[in-house]
Amino acid sequence: MENPGHQLRCTGCARVIEQRELKENFRCAECGDLYEVVYPSWSAGMAEIRKPNASAMRWLWKERCCSNAEADQSGVWRFREMLHILQDEANIVSLREGNTPLYQLRKVAESTGIEQLFAKHQGMNPTGSFKDAGMTTALSVAHELGFDWVACASTGNTSAAMAAYAARAGMRSLVLIPEGKIAWGKLSQAMDYGALTLQLRTDFDGCVRVLSEVVKRAPVYLLNSVNPYRLEGQKTPALEIAEAFDWEVPDHLIVPGGNLANSSALGKAFLEMKHLGLTAKLPRISVIQAEGANPLYRSLQESGGKTLQPVEAQTRASAIRIGNPASWKKAVRVIQQTGGYCEQVSEAEIALAKAEIGAEGIGCEPASAVTLAGLKKLLQRGKVQSGERAVLLLTGHTLKDSDYTIAYHRGDLLKADEIDGLHAEIEVTRRNAVELDASADQVLHELERAAAR
Ligand code: F0G
Repeated sequence: MENPGHQLRCTGCARVIEQRELKENFRCAECGDLYEVVYPSWSAGMAEIRKPNASAMRWLWKERCCSNAEADQSGVWRFREMLHILQDEANIVSLREGNTPLYQLRKVAESTGIEQLFAKHQGMNPTGSFKDAGMTTALSVAHELGFDWVACASTGNTSAAMAAYAARAGMRSLVLIPEGKIAWGKLSQAMDYGALTLQLRTDFDGCVRVLSEVVKRAPVYLLNSVNPYRLEGQKTPALEIAEAFDWEVPDHLIVPGGNLANSSALGKAFLEMKHLGLTAKLPRISVIQAEGANPLYRSLQESGGKTLQPVEAQTRASAIRIGNPASWKKAVRVIQQTGGYCEQVSEAEIALAKAEIGAEGIGCEPASAVTLAGLKKLLQRGKVQSGERAVLLLTGHTLKDSDYTIAYHRGDLLKADEIDGLHAEIEVTRRNAVELDASADQVLHELERAAAR
């Protein structure tokens, strides 16, 4: 049966197709580009009456927070008027994702020189990362379409989320991950949730290549972020941010960049909210990459975002160790449409930023900390003003990669030549665990030393 609620438009050649025409790799048969979900009833030309009413939706979305229905308790599906992707809501597979906290970062704001700084913590989702918001939507579509198997290539978080949601739906999941290059927390999740976990002797980009061959030859549903239904769910943190500020959007939203779907999804959400009259303006959306995994940064510097040269990616922020990002064209468009920027940050800058976010009692995984490191650069370069309201999108929970955190605090993470001018700042943030005999005197001595610091 046809889904009347949505269609798919190619972001390259603008061809519009129906759901049943989507190929297994989610690429346009004409030009090879990626699709985005569009809602015909929202476009000009259709009777205005069919466009959802902004005030009614704002009221309804708040009202649902008090409902006991599963779909209403999900911070993704309570916004379902913005994601008309299912025929039947009974197919929703949810772990009560979304409704994540928006924290004010007071100490970091002061030390960084910005008045209003917030962190939207998507690491507070059921599997500990922002992927849950997009996994509930795309996996629900897979469920509705009757697939038994879902699959993804991943740097760890997508696989954790996919495995969990597949298990909830009684489906099987196939995970391809780069051997030795993902954090243990994430690998353990895929195993715990019962995925068929294959560690390939390659990098993330190599896993993507292998999986694109597999989906052609086996009836598995691809859940990488080339799947446009993932992005529909990943729009919802933007709705939550707008709602939290009473539908006044922040001046700046800063997002880490890996495969570049998240920045694309958030941009789509803000553009749609403005189109529907939910908000009056757009935030600037800036994307931050690690220096060693910076293909988007280079593309914008070298060709203004017209072409992208894949790189061999290297960074300890393993979630974003991606050299050939699938959604780069979508991300370029969002940066350009919202007047945002792309920055790159060093390994030491990432590590320091992560410790600073940790010291606010919040914490995040390394890839998320690029946002704060990037904000510092944007402030230095005058691209963010101190009086602005900025939001950092923290994508993963600090427990995802505790090896990284422990190595940092022990002083084992960074090599001397990487630390550069940040030595003093890094030393102030390090809190190594101290080993002592079982003696009150020794504990009191340490307490005195710490209090004097
Ligand atoms: N932050 C974290 C914690 C991530 O896991 C990822 C991507 C990103 C940022 C980048 O988001 O790809 O939308 O630009 N992780 C993917 C994975 C690739 O397989 O878990 P993006």
